[in-house]
Amino acid sequence: METVAGNFTKLQQQLQKKQKWFLLLISSLLISTILILLTVTFSSGWNNSASTTQLLFRRRQQQQGQSSPRFAESKLAKTETFAGKLPRLAYLISGSAGDGVNLKRALKALYHPRNQYVVHLDLEAPVEERLELIRWVNEGEKVFQEVGNVRAVVRSNLVTYRGPTMVSNTLHAAAILLRDGGEWDWFINLSASDYPLVTQDDLLHTLSSIPRDLNFIEHTSDIGWKEDQRARPVIIDPGLYSLQKSDVFWATEKRSVPTAYRLFTGSAWMMLSRPFIEYSLWGWDNLPRIVLMYYANFLSSPEGYFHTVICNAEEFKNTTVNHDLHFISWARKFGKNDPVLDRIDSELLGVSADGFVHGGWFSKNIKANSTELKPGNGARRVKNLISGLLSAEGFRTSHCI
Ligand SMILES: *[C@@H]1O[C@H](CO)[C@@H](O)[C@H](O)[C@H]1NC(C)=O
Ligand SMILES: *[C@@H]1O[C@H](CO)[C@@H](O)[C@H](O)[C@H]1NC(C)=O
Ligand SMILES: *[C@@H]1O[C@H](CO)[C@@H](O)[C@H](O)[C@H]1NC(C)=O
Repeated sequence: METVAGNFTKLQQQLQKKQKWFLLLISSLLISTILILLTVTFSSGWNNSASTTQLLFRRRQQQQGQSSPRFAESKLAKTETFAGKLPRLAYLISGSAGDGVNLKRALKALYHPRNQYVVHLDLEAPVEERLELIRWVNEGEKVFQEVGNVRAVVRSNLVTYRGPTMVSNTLHAAAILLRDGGEWDWFINLSASDYPLVTQDDLLHTLSSIPRDLNFIEHTSDIGWKEDQRARPVIIDPGLYSLQKSDVFWATEKRSVPTAYRLFTGSAWMMLSRPFIEYSLWGWDNLPRIVLMYYANFLSSPEGYFHTVICNAEEFKNTTVNHDLHFISWARKFGKNDPVLDRIDSELLGVSADGFVHGGWFSKNIKANSTELKPGNGARRVKNLISGLLSAEGFRTSHCI
């Protein structure tokens, strides 16, 4: 031990000697540079009398004059909303094997030319079923081609129920909608077994009078039993690397609950604002990425990813409305040709024989920017709900608790 320690001190002394030499060399170099600079600046060779320091100083002042502190984050954080116009919604409707029929029916009931749609059947669905959906979207319905606002995901994802691949699939669709979907205000993801309870005219009409930056996401930090059952176990989703669908599996080790951010959980239905989707996807702040990686090993990550991101992001926290619009705007879980669907069609939506809800847009020549809405009873229900939520006591102070 002692010889090791002795060797170590010797080594240190040698290093210190070398350092001294190095320092001397550097400081002499520095002094000569400064001397040369000074001679150059004060010599008459300059046309104007500005010294180097003045030049540098001016440059900096000019930069600051444009806008005070210029962090990339704060500049990027201000994404625009399209207030003033009637809102537009961007939908993802996704399903798996055998969901094709339901998905088509839901899409028609949800259809409006103002909106944007992405439909996705996951890799578990047989190739024929996926091709049939793509064919139907691209050639089957005349309206879709005229307006051009429905897209089928061709490169399907493998989506594991309760696994993080559900989240990546949602983000994938949101990315497609951001890139190709033009202007839209809210993103809504539904599954093929969901069905609307109000018409799009109802929804667009009601949403036209509320701030576009609101996020409807039911959430709580009271994770309760989920701490033991969800947050501590570590799971692996084979959908992240395999082509075959199989269930998630558990690692033997458990992990502790995060301390860098608080976990939130809540409902799987949500209506998220465009600025928040941009924040989640473009990642000008690292939080969405970090949380995404954390949730890669989280059982039922779909129940918590967006909730945790939004509630830990200072700039979005206050935009949350603690409701998922479930049972007001949409419901599940419906099987193929469920008789309840027929009742919803006739009693709530007024679906026509062709499967579409003929709102204000259908009687005119179909226009992508059709602005004529015919809201019905559904609009009243949604309006009552939303105005109740926004005017509730403590709305402003009870976000993300
Ligand atoms: C919407 O996406 C989230 C995140 O992937 C998921 O948790 C949720 O189940 C989806 N909602 C519906 C209704 O499919
Ligand atoms: C959010 O609301 C809280 C409580 O009203 C307030 O203290 C905070 O400054 C708000 N944050 C932002 C970013 O507006
Ligand atoms: C959108 O609406 C405006 C005014 O209502 C109209 O002039 C325009 O042609 C419409 N655009 C499309 C693509 O139909």
